[in-house]
Amino acid sequence: MGSLAISEEEVKSLMTAMKKRYDLDFTNYETSSLCRGVTRLMAKHKISAPLDLWSRVLNDDDFFLNSIDDLMINLTELFRNPEAWVGVRKSILENLKYKQNLKVWHAGCSTGEEVYTMAMILDDCGLLDRSDILATDLSKKALAQAQSGEYSIQLMNKYAKSFKKFFPKRILEDFFDLDTDIATIKPRYKRNVTYQQHNLVSCDMTDKFDIIFCRNVLIYFDGVLKQRIINFLESCLTEDGYLVLGFYDTIPQRVLEVFDVKDQSSRIYKKKVKEIIKAI
Ligand SMILES: C[S@@+](CC[C@H](N)C(=O)[O-])C[C@H]1O[C@@H](n2cnc3c(N)ncnc32)[C@H](O)[C@@H]1O
Repeated sequence: MGSLAISEEEVKSLMTAMKKRYDLDFTNYETSSLCRGVTRLMAKHKISAPLDLWSRVLNDDDFFLNSIDDLMINLTELFRNPEAWVGVRKSILENLKYKQNLKVWHAGCSTGEEVYTMAMILDDCGLLDRSDILATDLSKKALAQAQSGEYSIQLMNKYAKSFKKFFPKRILEDFFDLDTDIATIKPRYKRNVTYQQHNLVSCDMTDKFDIIFCRNVLIYFDGVLKQRIINFLESCLTEDGYLVLGFYDTIPQRVLEVFDVKDQSSRIYKKKVKEIIKAI
């Protein structure tokens, strides 16, 4: 579809109506990316008039829930940006390896490749058995795929190069059971993972984590929401905790106020100690 079928104003008012109807807040999502998502949704369901979309979204709960994936892109990869994972091993795990229990949160984990990448690295560092991993996403569909741990062989072929870059001496069969069409992550890499639907915008989390991954999720949010989420993520970290953002995220100013840059090329930030924040 060449031009947008819906204007920014129409998208904004649809998001306000959705917030009222379902209490799911997309109002601070970046408008141009939402417009593209809504256009994808309309094209998929052959809806040409914004009013028809409006009535379908607000009257059909299942349609709305299934639409979330069209509003966003769940793009992810195994060992996405492999050099960033080298940074995670060197700049984070080397420092946290003394911990008896390591708590890791993948916020916006999509279909799970990021979670299993980290589980493989934790295992390689001898830390997997001491780790509790929380994998959350807004999309139930993406989360179900994450939980299944099943990926097509075509996808695995696509991931092989990045995998080899990180683990030149290992083979995918060390981590996945390979079938003709499907690769399934071995149970060892799933057993410490809890999967949970969670909306970051709700800023609701009682646990504290040593490492939070929030890679390529902030890209959807406008400046105000980005700041709010950064404050929230900082509050969910232990005192010596780390935040890992994505290669495609622009780094909000707030990150530099509450975090020390640990490894900029890997987008790794360390929570500032309280005394330093007070002194500023
Ligand atoms: C581009 S994917 C990134 C996946 C993975 N972190 C990575 O970098 O490979 C972004 C994910 O963020 C999720 N997402 C978007 N808004 C969210 C929100 N408010 N709360 C939780 N997850 C959200 C989407 O469903 C999608 O799966």
